[in-house]
Amino acid sequence: MRTQVAIIGGGPAGLLLSQLLHRKGIDTVVLERRSRDYVLSRIRAGVLEWGAVELLREAGVGARMDAEGFPHDGTYLASENRGFRIDFVERTGKQVMVYGQTEVTRDLYEARDKMDGQIIDEAEGVTIHGADTDAPHVTYTKDGSEHRIDCDFIAGCDGFHGVSRKTIPGTVLREFERVYPFGWLGLLSETPPVDDELIYAQHSRGFALCSMRNANLSRYYLQVPLDDKVEDWSDDAFWAELKQRIPEDAAQRLVTGPSIEKSIAPLRSFVAEPMRWGRLFLAGDAAHIVPPTGAKGLNLAASDVHYLYNGLVQHYEGDDEGIETYSERALARVWKSERFSWSMTTLLHLFPDQSPFERRMQEAEFDYLAGSEAAQTALAENYVGLPY
Ligand code: FAD
Ligand code: PHB
Repeated sequence: MRTQVAIIGGGPAGLLLSQLLHRKGIDTVVLERRSRDYVLSRIRAGVLEWGAVELLREAGVGARMDAEGFPHDGTYLASENRGFRIDFVERTGKQVMVYGQTEVTRDLYEARDKMDGQIIDEAEGVTIHGADTDAPHVTYTKDGSEHRIDCDFIAGCDGFHGVSRKTIPGTVLREFERVYPFGWLGLLSETPPVDDELIYAQHSRGFALCSMRNANLSRYYLQVPLDDKVEDWSDDAFWAELKQRIPEDAAQRLVTGPSIEKSIAPLRSFVAEPMRWGRLFLAGDAAHIVPPTGAKGLNLAASDVHYLYNGLVQHYEGDDEGIETYSERALARVWKSERFSWSMTTLLHLFPDQSPFERRMQEAEFDYLAGSEAAQTALAENYVGLPY
């Protein structure tokens, strides 16, 4: 088989890149290790920056998001029983869109199917060959038989545990990492959200987040020790703990119900440099991970795709500048989102080895944010998304 761009990974980055390129007449094949049902059952991000919203529209997959998503004008930050609201629109003129990653992925699959896009799922043993030559190819196994795809370029959109980043030699790749000493326990329930905006809550018992998917679907998170297991947390225990960590008025309004999904995610900051090796380009979680506190993971995948898509389109029009500068341009934005996600995580979580001085620093930073329009503008500017 031959294609122009072989895309490894059928998550949001791979599907969006495939969809955008196809609309410009550039041929792609997406290789996904899992089944479609598995990919569509993953509950992940919930907040889209406006840049990502516009990119999804450009890809022709904005209709359901525009009809069913919820534009948000601001968010609440709480600490113990105090809190304040940051108004994104007032501070930056921009909103964010609450629309789940699961829905984005579903819309992308549907659009790919409509255009007869080639997505090969349950592709095993995907291997990249000759990425540093002019004639790369990818091999994989499907239903027991081996296949080969020759291509011009390979897009590594296969997430943190994928094969693409690992193909880049250690002499070329530099990795930067921070692993946080806690995780997030997430719970999804068919209950009305506790508020019409998100609540990020710092607390001496640990961080909590109140988020949502729609008027009858809520998503809540609790900071938990790394060695906690989902089985340790009954629904009742989750709700009781959440009520203690969020402001009293919210706790009184909280509607609880049975969970329909519960999972624990570790928190990590990670960046791999460069994001290009020869004809292999990394995009999304394959190249970087952020802790979810800044709601940036999916949004960074979208901005990488924006740079890569434009670079590839330019290449086929005869100009290589976009692909030559891809890594540099993507990384400049990645590092700023890494900084924001790290600073939100540091501000809002309880660190097990935190000294009383560090705790006071968190409190002082929270107070400063509560009282400073300049500080709120800086937070809002990062939260709604820096320009592409
Ligand atoms: P992925 O979504 O990981 O997609 C990569 C795809 O590649 C997957 O479908 C995978 O099956 C496939 N793949 C992997 N290896 C191979 C291989 N060898 N061959 C072929 N295919 C392969 N972000 C937020 O903003 N908010 C959140 O609340 C949030 N929660 C998260 C919870 C979890 C458990 C995780 C893992 C991430 C979370 N994120 C969150 C981050 C966000 O979901 C990711 O940043 C986003 O999914 C990145 O998209 P991607 O397409 O780059 O990677
Ligand atoms: C979510 O709704 O899943 C969500 C929202 C905001 C975050 C993280 C996760 O910062």
